[in-house]
Parts: sequence; C-alpha cells; structure tokens
Amino acid sequence: MFSLRTLITVLAVAALGSASSIGRSLNPAPEDIAHATPREHISARSMPATNARRFALGLPPLAPRRTRVRAPRAQPSAVAPTQTSCNIAVMSSNGTFGFINATWNGFGEYGLFQAEQAGSLEVTISSSGTTASELDLTATNSPDGTYPYFGALLGLASTSSDFGPASYAYLGGITQTPAGSPPLSTGDSSFTAATGTSAVIESAIWRYDPATQSISAQWINTDGSAPATHIVYVGDSNQALIITGSVESVQNVFGSPYPEVTFMCVPPL
Ligand SMILES: *[C@@H]1O[C@H](CO)[C@@H](O)[C@H](O)[C@H]1NC(C)=O
Ligand SMILES: *[C@@H]1O[C@H](CO)[C@@H](O)[C@H](O)[C@H]1NC(C)=O
Repeated sequence: MFSLRTLITVLAVAALGSASSIGRSLNPAPEDIAHATPREHISARSMPATNARRFALGLPPLAPRRTRVRAPRAQPSAVAPTQTSCNIAVMSSNGTFGFINATWNGFGEYGLFQAEQAGSLEVTISSSGTTASELDLTATNSPDGTYPYFGALLGLASTSSDFGPASYAYLGGITQTPAGSPPLSTGDSSFTAATGTSAVIESAIWRYDPATQSISAQWINTDGSAPATHIVYVGDSNQALIITGSVESVQNVFGSPYPEVTFMCVPPL
C-alpha cells in the first residue's frame, strides 16, 4: 500500500513534470516531435480537428465553429488583376540576411536563408491596384504542393489567437483561408506534417507595394480586426521566420534579441 509520504512524493514529481513541460519554447520540444506520427498525433494541445477523427477516438463532436468571415468585396471592374513573381530578400536594419530558401526547417517552417537568388523561394502575388492588402502568396517551388500558400500558423506558446503581447505565428506552407478571415483550424500544413501538432492558419496576410517592392504582413484577429504585425527572424536553433504583434514581447518571453526584418520582392532572374 502507498504511504502518505509516497503519495505526496508522487504528486510532487507529477507537478514538477507538468511544470517543466509548460516551459516557454518557441517550437515543439524535440521529444514531442520524435514521437509524433504526422497528421495522426494526438495531444492535449492538438485535439483531433475533424469530427470523423474525433468519433474514431470516442471524443464528442466539435462545437459548431463561429467565425466571422467578411463578405467578398465587389471587384473593381476596370482593374485586371496582375500577377507578380518574387524571390524574397530578407533584411534588418543591419543589412541583408539573404533570400528565403525554398525548403522548410525541421518544424516545417520557412526561415533558412541562402545568398544566391537562383533557386530560392519563389512566390506569386495576384493583386489589383496599388498597395494591395489581404493577399495570398503562392509558393511556386514549394517542397510539397499540398501546402502551397506561404502563410501563417499560430505559434504553440502564444497566449491567444489575437496578436498582442506574447502571441506569434510561424511562417510555413499552408492551405488557403479567405481574405479577411480570422485564424481557422482548417487544413493541413507543413508544420503539422513535420511536428504532428495542429495550429490555426491564415493565408491572406500579405500586403504588397509595387512602388517600393515591399512585402509586409497583416495578421487578422478573431474579431476581424487588424493588429500591428511585425516580421521577426528567430535565428537560433529554430531558424524560423515568425510574425508577431510585439517584437519586444517576443524578445522578452524567449530571452533573445531576435531582430525585426522586412521582406522585399526581387523579380526572379
Ligand atoms: C537550402 O536549404 C537546404 C536545407 O538546409 C540546403 O540543403 C540547400 O543547400 C539550401 N540552398 C541553398 C542554395 O543554399
Ligand atoms: C545589429 O548588429 C548588432 C551588432 O552585431 C546587434 O547587436 C543588433 O542586435 C543587430 N540588430 C539587428 C536589428 O539585427
């Protein structure tokens, strides 16, 4: 029989174990990934996203999703959409990091760089007018055409799906979500395939200014509002590009001076 002391020890160890697993890490822990079977891995953080899978596991169906998706806007009749192809150069106030490599890091995220423009990530932007917003960027040389959109996935350690302090999203390969849409739990992604962990996604998060060739990001919150959005390079072992509402807060939470970066469209060679 368990003595009270043994029970207390067991409880204390369990509490310690759960406390340490809550430790703030930008990406899933390696041991989580090692045990993950892509797309079938189940954990408290990644409950099955479809009712079919939930029923198979004896779980109740998901509550009906209440999302507010803006009605499609009337198309300006005179302006034909233009297609722009870009390689993406990444710079900070200190200079240029290089071009985004077309492949993903071990978490299925963009954030590897290369000096040569040739062979780097190439995206297509469809836009009409001048500075266009809520654009999709489609990767034409994605490592896996199942997730062709260069989009955002809410980060695991985010405190909310809304951008404010300590919320962030990885940039990876995702499926399409409607323009102006809040984060949706639809679709697989390069991140889910690599880590076995699901994350809500947004694809139409880009703004492109043909005059300056600048590409900037705009996350949409769950209430449809458009918070301040910054792109940050997480250049440690994560080798990842993320977007966040607060660069300072991400630097503080993860204890590293990750630089804010900007994206520039460079016409492919
Ligand atoms: C892109 O990244 C991959 C994976 O790290 C690497 O093998 C490849 O050499 C990189 N491409 C270039 C042109 O640097
Ligand atoms: C620029 O370089 C300095 C010196 O290496 C470094 O301390 C600083 O964090 C860098 N800033 C950015 C935005 O990369």
